[in-house]
Amino acid sequence: MKTEVRYQSRGGNTKAVAVLIANEFNIKAEPVEIPITEYTDILFVGGGVYEWRMDKTLREFMKRLDSQKIGQIVCFSTTGYKNSAIEQMKHIAKEKGIAVNKNELLIKMLLKGHSWLGLESGNLSDKQIKTIINFTDKIKEELQ
Ligand SMILES: Cc1cc2nc3c(=O)[nH]c(=O)nc-3n(C[C@H](O)[C@H](O)[C@H](O)COP(=O)(O)O)c2cc1C
Repeated sequence: MKTEVRYQSRGGNTKAVAVLIANEFNIKAEPVEIPITEYTDILFVGGGVYEWRMDKTLREFMKRLDSQKIGQIVCFSTTGYKNSAIEQMKHIAKEKGIAVNKNELLIKMLLKGHSWLGLESGNLSDKQIKTIINFTDKIKEELQ
């Protein structure tokens, strides 16, 4: 079963989540600039929320996906508080006829990552790490 992880991350929060997810599957998380070229059973795809929407690079990645090459996607996002990137990813997947796993992961970072406030991004709390590992365990269980 081929699993891939793709992320869009301006500040590092989403990358940190993507790296953790990928570690749980013994694979490497790659940025959305690296396309999916081979058939992939499970594609974890995630990004941040910027002024209420997903980043353009994530939208382009989603639009370029070849529905024949994707078994299903699993959406994740880091955000201040809104889940709009996940909603937008699901919308594009639906338009393209790509199956979306019912489980999704939203990690709220509140103001972490706003460097102008002196709040560094990419630092996950122990609780957030536990949430991410529980999430990947759930997906793994489902696949068995
Ligand atoms: C310029 C900017 C705009 C943002 N706009 C929103 C927003 O509209 N809604 C929200 O919930 N979070 C917003 N956030 C918070 C980010 O979604 C959050 O920090 C996320 O973890 C960023 O991911 P990244 O570090 O992977 O880029 C914004 C952050 C930045 C830096």
